[in-house]
Amino acid sequence: MSGMRGNQGPRYRHATDESAPYETIALDKLTPIIGAEVTGVDLSKPMSNRTQDEIHRALAENLVIFFRDQHISPQQHLAFGRMFGDLHIHPAAPHEDGEPALMKIYADKDSPRANGEGWHSDVSCDAEPPMGSILYIKQCPPKGGDTLFANMYAAYEALSDRMKAYLDGLTAFHDGADVYRGLYANYGIADKPAYPSAEHPMVRTHPVTGKKALYVNRGFTRRIIGIPRDESDAILAYLYQHAENPLFQCRFRWTENAIAFWDNRCVQHRAMWDYWPHTRSGNRVTVKGDRPV
Ligand code: SIN
Repeated sequence: MSGMRGNQGPRYRHATDESAPYETIALDKLTPIIGAEVTGVDLSKPMSNRTQDEIHRALAENLVIFFRDQHISPQQHLAFGRMFGDLHIHPAAPHEDGEPALMKIYADKDSPRANGEGWHSDVSCDAEPPMGSILYIKQCPPKGGDTLFANMYAAYEALSDRMKAYLDGLTAFHDGADVYRGLYANYGIADKPAYPSAEHPMVRTHPVTGKKALYVNRGFTRRIIGIPRDESDAILAYLYQHAENPLFQCRFRWTENAIAFWDNRCVQHRAMWDYWPHTRSGNRVTVKGDRPV
């Protein structure tokens, strides 16, 4: 509405982008705040150290990066992941035969649900949650099936100074059992006796950029430690609503054989299941991370 005055919610002033030029790849930003498409690289070909470094820098600077029209084998997908660290094995999700690190991402007309439909940071219930996820979508629906990504540095920055002070030193409990129990029954996967859970700082410092990011998510975070339950519920509800403000987001429209590589330490994401009865299918390779601090 024109003429609106006063505080309409979080305001976020993004620092001017002054990154050094790239020499072996080119970047096309989706928004000033998060997301960039990378061109000039064929992930099926051997990659120079310089290109690897530039991809790593593009991820640090843009939080999620995208590559279109890539034709890579499952082994090349796994090898691309290994360039960034050891591979993470999902505690519950189905994977390709004989390749536990190659998670299936699949929904069709018979699916009761799709992967990642709510805002989350991948497997934040792990004591050492994954640093990054590399999703390769091979079959797209004719329309829809986008993925939304949100910048958790920006979400943290846009909090009031009083809220930042309140969160300082607080930790929260992230629970996998609540999420994963029964979740993959439609794939014939039986429940495990136990799933990971962990306590993490509510604000984490990124080990590469040194920047602070809000680190609670609707998917896995269940309560703040050391405060009354009703206070915890109210604070978490506020933080989820704040973190999900479109101001901090980009939205990626998939095309067949596109890849998204996101940094779970400073990004939350959400997949749209708006394409039923069509099929969307691919694989995710996930890279191990560190204990959040
Ligand atoms: C996920 O890894 O959470 C799934 C994301 C997607 O399918 O877009």
